[in-house]
Amino acid sequence: MKTITSLLCAVLGLLSWAILAGPITAVAAESSSVLVFGGTGRLGSEVVKALLDDGHAVTVFARPSSARKRLEGLPVSFVVGDVLDADQVAQRVAEAAPDVIVDALGRGDAPVSFYADSGRNIAQAASAAGVRQLILHGSVGAGDSAAAYPSGRFSRMQKLFEAKTAGENAVRESGVPFTIIRHMRLLSHGTGPSDGLELVADETVGGTVSRVDLGAVTVQCVMQERCFNQILHARSDR
Ligand SMILES: NC(=O)c1ccc[n+]([C@@H]2O[C@H](COP(=O)([O-])OP(=O)(O)OC[C@H]3O[C@@H](n4cnc5c(N)ncnc54)[C@H](OP(=O)(O)O)[C@@H]3O)[C@@H](O)[C@H]2O)c1
Repeated sequence: MKTITSLLCAVLGLLSWAILAGPITAVAAESSSVLVFGGTGRLGSEVVKALLDDGHAVTVFARPSSARKRLEGLPVSFVVGDVLDADQVAQRVAEAAPDVIVDALGRGDAPVSFYADSGRNIAQAASAAGVRQLILHGSVGAGDSAAAYPSGRFSRMQKLFEAKTAGENAVRESGVPFTIIRHMRLLSHGTGPSDGLELVADETVGGTVSRVDLGAVTVQCVMQERCFNQILHARSDR
C-alpha cells in the first residue's frame, strides 16, 4: 500500500511540474477579491498591477506611513495597520474578507524575525477569516531549497532563511490552501512577462526573475487549484 501511495505521489508531482513549467500564458480566472500585504512596495505594486489587469478587486494592507506613490491613480482600496501587530492584522483581514491574500512584504530595516512574525500573523488571520488561498512570496534558500542557493553565500543569509522558513511553515500549517512562490535573484527592470518565464514545482531550481514577472506568475496562481498547497520556484533565465 505504501509503495502504491509513494508511486501516486511521484506521478502527481511530475504532473504538477509539467503543468506549471513552460511559457506562462494568460488564464482567464474568475474575478476574486485579493488583499495584498506589501502592496505599496516594489514587488507588491507589480503584483497589484497584474491583479488589476486580470480583473481582480484589490485591497492593499499598508501602514499609516506607507508611501502610496507606486499605486497612484490605480483603483485599489486600502486598509491600514502594521503587520507586526497580530490584532490589527486579524481585524483588517476580517473587515476586508478577501478570497485571496498575497504576502509580498519586505522587511526594510526591521530584523529578519520580521518574516517569521508577519507570516504567523497573516496565516492566523487568514485561517480565522476563512480565506480561500494564501500566496506567500518567499526566497530560494528557505525550507528544503538550501541546495539551490549559492553555497558560498549561504552562511551569510542563513538567519534570514531561517526566519523565512518559519513564515512559510506558519502559512503551510494554517489550513488555508497555500501557494509559496520563491525567487532567488530579483531584478527591478523588466516591462512584461519574459519569454522564458516559468514557475516550477522543483526546489532545486534557482535563477533570476524580475518583479514584473513575479506579478505575472502570481496572477497565474490566483484561485487555481493546480497551485494549491504547492511550493513553486520562479525564474526567467536558464
Ligand atoms: N533575492 C533578491 O535579489 C531580493 C532583492 C530584494 C528583495 N528581495 C525579497 O523580495 C521581497 C520584496 O522585496 P521588495 O524589495 O520588493 O520590497 P519593498 O519595496 O521594500 O516593499 C516592502 C513592502 O512591505 C511593507 N512593509 C514593511 N514593513 C511593514 C509592516 N510592519 N507593516 C506593513 N507593511 C510593511 C512596506 O511598506 P512601507 O512602505 O510602509 O515600508 C512595503 O510595502 C522581500 O521578501 C525581499 O526579501 C529579494
